[in-house]
Amino acid sequence: MDLKAKTVVVTGASSGIGRAVALECARRGANVVLGARREQALRTTADECRQFGVRAEAVVTDVTRREECARLIESAGTVDVLINNAGFAIFDAIESAQPDDLRTMMETNYFGAVHCTQSVLPQMLARGSGTIVNVASIAGLMGYARMGGYCATKFALVGFTEALRDEVIRRGVRVALVCPGTTETEFFVKAERGKMPGASRLMLAVKPEQVARVVVNAAESGAYRRVVPLLAAAFTKFKEITPRLAHTLFRRVSSKLEPR
Ligand SMILES: NC(=O)c1ccc[n+]([C@@H]2O[C@H](COP(=O)([O-])OP(=O)(O)OC[C@H]3O[C@@H](n4cnc5c(N)ncnc54)[C@H](OP(=O)(O)O)[C@@H]3O)[C@@H](O)[C@H]2O)c1
Repeated sequence: MDLKAKTVVVTGASSGIGRAVALECARRGANVVLGARREQALRTTADECRQFGVRAEAVVTDVTRREECARLIESAGTVDVLINNAGFAIFDAIESAQPDDLRTMMETNYFGAVHCTQSVLPQMLARGSGTIVNVASIAGLMGYARMGGYCATKFALVGFTEALRDEVIRRGVRVALVCPGTTETEFFVKAERGKMPGASRLMLAVKPEQVARVVVNAAESGAYRRVVPLLAAAFTKFKEITPRLAHTLFRRVSSKLEPR
């Protein structure tokens, strides 16, 4: 599918990957409707998108609120592509994680995508066309120490994505999953990099623009699943083939790299 003149809704477009996705969609000629909570930052992304000669609308949206997700979709009219990207992390060991943090992460990263998906599905199914891209994480494919609360939200999103795809694939709606590894964004203002397992820190952070190209390519092709960067994709494959060995290896490398 060519994105030219299509309408793409992007959540979490006020910064990082979502902002880069919005710009990449606009560069490819799509009209964009952008959702996030910070109005000024969202408007700035919309202004930047308009420089490509497309229409861009900023709709202040808290994805934890079902009615705000419905309004975001409604204000977009006919939605060709929905990109569920909004999310955040607070890393902590399970023994000390704050219940409110665990709940808010699930409300945002998982239920945010559920609300937007349920708002857009009726029109896509009625037309028999449309694409939904969910931005999960490599933390949705393997559990990492001190990231359990965040991993749970992304594992939930991966399961939701796979089930949704099987429900709608024969009704003309495509569902794609993108799992980025560490990416250089404001994500790490809240998520403490130092709490990541030592071996995770070996993986160099990728730029949001690189992830955005993968996300937008997935929107165009309806890819089954894309993991970015390549090293993360290779390790994820290894984990799927032999999970116990992958965890043991990862733990051993991490314990050598972490201060005692
Ligand atoms: N950075 C990484 O290493 C990494 C790796 C794998 C996956 N990811 C995933 O990639 C996605 C984007 O993260 P990022 O790295 O680009 O981080 P970011 O720069 O912090 O962007 C997060 C975006 O989500 C929005 N958001 C957060 N809570 C929201 C809410 N309740 N309602 C609406 N929007 C909300 C933020 O906007 P407002 O604050 O304006 O609402 C912001 O636009 C997230 O789902 C994240 O889990 C990130």
